[in-house]
Amino acid sequence: MNKPHFLNLSLFLTLLACVGMLSSCNEHSLDTTPEISIIPAPVSIKPGEGTFQIRRNTQMFVNHDTISFLTNIASDLWKPYLGFGLKMGINDSRTENGVFLSLNEQFDPKIGEEGYRLDINQKGIFIAANRPAGVFYGIQTIFQMLSTSERRRLPQVNMVDYPRFAWRGMHLDVSRHFMPIEFMFRYIDYLAMHKLNVFHWHLVDDQGWRLEIKKYPRLTEIGAWRVDKSHLHWDHRPLVNDPANATYGGFYTQEEVRKLVAYAAQRNITIVPEIGMPAHIMSALAAYPEFSCTGENLGVAPGGVWPITHIYCAGNDETFTFLENIMLEVMDMFPSEFIHVGGDEATKTNWEKCIRCQRRIKEEGLADVRELQSYFITRMEKFLNSHGRRLIGWDEILYGGLAPNATVMSWRGEAGGIQAAQMGHNAVMTPGSHLYFDHYQGDPDLEPLAIGGYSTLSNVYSYEPIPEVLTPEQGKLILGAQANVWTEYMPTTDHVEYMVFPRIAALSEVVWSPASHRNWGDFSRRMRDQFIRYRDLGINYSESSFQVRALPEVDITDRTLKITLQSEAFEPE
Ligand code: ACM
Ligand code: ZN
Repeated sequence: MNKPHFLNLSLFLTLLACVGMLSSCNEHSLDTTPEISIIPAPVSIKPGEGTFQIRRNTQMFVNHDTISFLTNIASDLWKPYLGFGLKMGINDSRTENGVFLSLNEQFDPKIGEEGYRLDINQKGIFIAANRPAGVFYGIQTIFQMLSTSERRRLPQVNMVDYPRFAWRGMHLDVSRHFMPIEFMFRYIDYLAMHKLNVFHWHLVDDQGWRLEIKKYPRLTEIGAWRVDKSHLHWDHRPLVNDPANATYGGFYTQEEVRKLVAYAAQRNITIVPEIGMPAHIMSALAAYPEFSCTGENLGVAPGGVWPITHIYCAGNDETFTFLENIMLEVMDMFPSEFIHVGGDEATKTNWEKCIRCQRRIKEEGLADVRELQSYFITRMEKFLNSHGRRLIGWDEILYGGLAPNATVMSWRGEAGGIQAAQMGHNAVMTPGSHLYFDHYQGDPDLEPLAIGGYSTLSNVYSYEPIPEVLTPEQGKLILGAQANVWTEYMPTTDHVEYMVFPRIAALSEVVWSPASHRNWGDFSRRMRDQFIRYRDLGINYSESSFQVRALPEVDITDRTLKITLQSEAFEPE
């Protein structure tokens, strides 16, 4: 072929400009107020005319002592964009040049426990809510508005905003790789910035026990440490029981945990601890091997374990005493109504062979080891319920019959969540298809090593937590959704940030904003400001959604080749 191919050069250049400079290539957006760029998208925004400028002598006022703590949070949060801290005013008759935070239980039933109204007019910034949570979210919205403001001038606006779902979660696995407590405080800030309200803390797994339990000190003396095999691929690390050389790991003291829980509570985040059972607990069995079926000590796993057969013995009453004593300390540290008990991926071959487990099956009139798992979880549920708490577990807790009051966290797709809701139980959606942030977010050839999978920013954004097969009544049992961050392939906090950002932004809109507001083009436009916020905060975010794909079209008759370059960040919806 000697005829030159046709290349759509102008498109090529346009796209290069878009990708390179985050320029305004998507100005067809529906939003007519480009200076107001909030993620997650608020329920309603009525722009006014003019601006209000925050000045050094602008002061903050509260109508109620219970929200005084929020003035410090607001001042610290806004300071990088203001250049100064705001003082709390003492003259409560002042009506202008202020930020007025107002709490009133009967303010507006429509905005619920977490909503807020925001008015910015020539006199100041007025945030009002039924509960402190709403005031806090108004403060977060102002943070985002300040980031796009010029000289601290905010556009006048009237906003009403409240969340779609009650469970807006992010998870983090700190067992596969321990994350320092300082990072956990930052993680809470990241969730709060996205108006998420549940932090699911995966504290226990085969590769490390991360929570101090005073009654069982060996859980952290032994269980928190493994032999360092970082030079080998995660799945090629043989088991080793060698505590003297177990130097890799760490744990959180109860004091650290209490501080984190309090910090999160001020930011409307409930920390749901996950204390797994009956599997994913080799770290516990390295410390207390007597609670397994075999009594063997296989050590704390240095890497991947599959299948997971070394699990708690369900026939030994002492196992339950051990777990109940642990739960007493867990409940003392974590006020969360929900306690997560894991329940996933237990291979029950040892239960098949264990005399005690088999005796339990007979005595309890159970059919098989699947029903024994159900017995295990139901027994733990009774204990938690008797202390006023609710049990949540991965969807395998459906095996052999769901415990009477349990909530299901659906991870192997949506089937478990659907089944739970159809049975009248609550469910939280975290399907691997969309909400596993350990999956690749771009071309695997261009990304750091991940566990597999593929879930781009737009894929996360497209997720709808209420499956169509549910009736409206059943749909109400879906509490919300959550993204999971398993850290087998994330040894550092920088790497965690890379996998979480920017997908957390898409998640936030899925769980907060009305379904009718979902609009990829508009979100994509607002993401430009969000990326700048991430940069300003020093977050190690991923730019994979700007990866360019070449789509060739050959026309044999015309002897032309047309190449379109596309990036998901600039695709219209
Ligand atoms: C899970 O991902 N094993 C819950
Ligand atoms: Zn057993």
